[in-house]
Amino acid sequence: MQILNIIRPDDWHIHLRDDETLTLTVPLAEQTFTRVLAMPNLTPPLTTVQGILSYRERILAIAKNTHFTPYFSVYFTNNLTAATLHEAKLCPWILGVKLYPQGATTHSDWGINDITQHFDIVSVMEELALPLLVHGEVTDNTIDIFDREARFIESVLIPLQQRFPKLPIVLEHISTAEAVDWVHSMPAHIAATVTAHHLAFNRNHLLAGNLRPDYYCLPILKQQHHQQKLQQAVMAKNQSQFFLGTDSAPHSQQKKYSACGCAGCFTSPIALPLLAEVFSLHNALSSLEAFTSINGAHFYQLPLNTQRLCLTQSTWEVPQNYSAGGDAFIPLYAGQTLSWQCQPTAGQPTHE
Ligand code: DOR
Ligand code: ZN
Repeated sequence: MQILNIIRPDDWHIHLRDDETLTLTVPLAEQTFTRVLAMPNLTPPLTTVQGILSYRERILAIAKNTHFTPYFSVYFTNNLTAATLHEAKLCPWILGVKLYPQGATTHSDWGINDITQHFDIVSVMEELALPLLVHGEVTDNTIDIFDREARFIESVLIPLQQRFPKLPIVLEHISTAEAVDWVHSMPAHIAATVTAHHLAFNRNHLLAGNLRPDYYCLPILKQQHHQQKLQQAVMAKNQSQFFLGTDSAPHSQQKKYSACGCAGCFTSPIALPLLAEVFSLHNALSSLEAFTSINGAHFYQLPLNTQRLCLTQSTWEVPQNYSAGGDAFIPLYAGQTLSWQCQPTAGQPTHE
């Protein structure tokens, strides 16, 4: 049996949600990840340091593993102030500011629709070296949904980066060859997160034969050649600009499997096994640890985790569903078999 022993991974982009859903998302996340960067698209969104600190308390009240450390980003709204940025920079748990183009995705109504109107704020972020985390899709309804990331890069991101060359940027959950090329053309303070599902799947999984809502996420899965380009980027030897952000985004069964289904793949419980499967298929298991456990920490100037995670090549069946707060949540790959599994971490200290 093949065994893979790596530095314990971090998830630099996750949706933990709030309230009772935390009783599901936090234990699942801490099974695999030491650190997570929790997204601020709650209702209402996380726009203040105080709001983030009380969210942190709600998360830590549920976490069992003493090493589990949640990090956060401030939601970039029209009302974001320089004072909040300064306060955020001083808070050890806040790693950046999350930009959602208004209407781009779940709970993005408070997002901004024209970054050029907020250059004064971006300029403060550049001075503070506070990273801008970007959902990189245009929202113009005349633009085809499969082209929205590439259009965002050319019309918003390139001009923004040229105007603020020192601003650290993470282009989140990238899904296209254009995104890979852009990151490759940039210096080390520009990086991208990549999800397990954008590496493992393409739009055929979503659309061919049957329509599969579990695979519906934003940015939407693209053609196979984009998937392959992402795979090459993360599996390349010595690459440092791409790291794991699962974008695990649970929605209740009722909300996801409806006539107007929500975008989001719930991947927390399968992310590492799925990645091991994809990397192993490409004989690239030796590149997995940099992607899951090293590059992100370096980008955010944090130490590497001292704990380790062991994955074994042994099959298991992904649960049909999980529940929280009276709702069912279907994980991606529910009822299907994966050929790698995470071993429970023996001797991990836990909260009382
Ligand atoms: O598929 C997605 N779901 N993409 C996002 O950007 C947001 C996320 C969510 O919060 O459900
Ligand atoms: Zn997300």
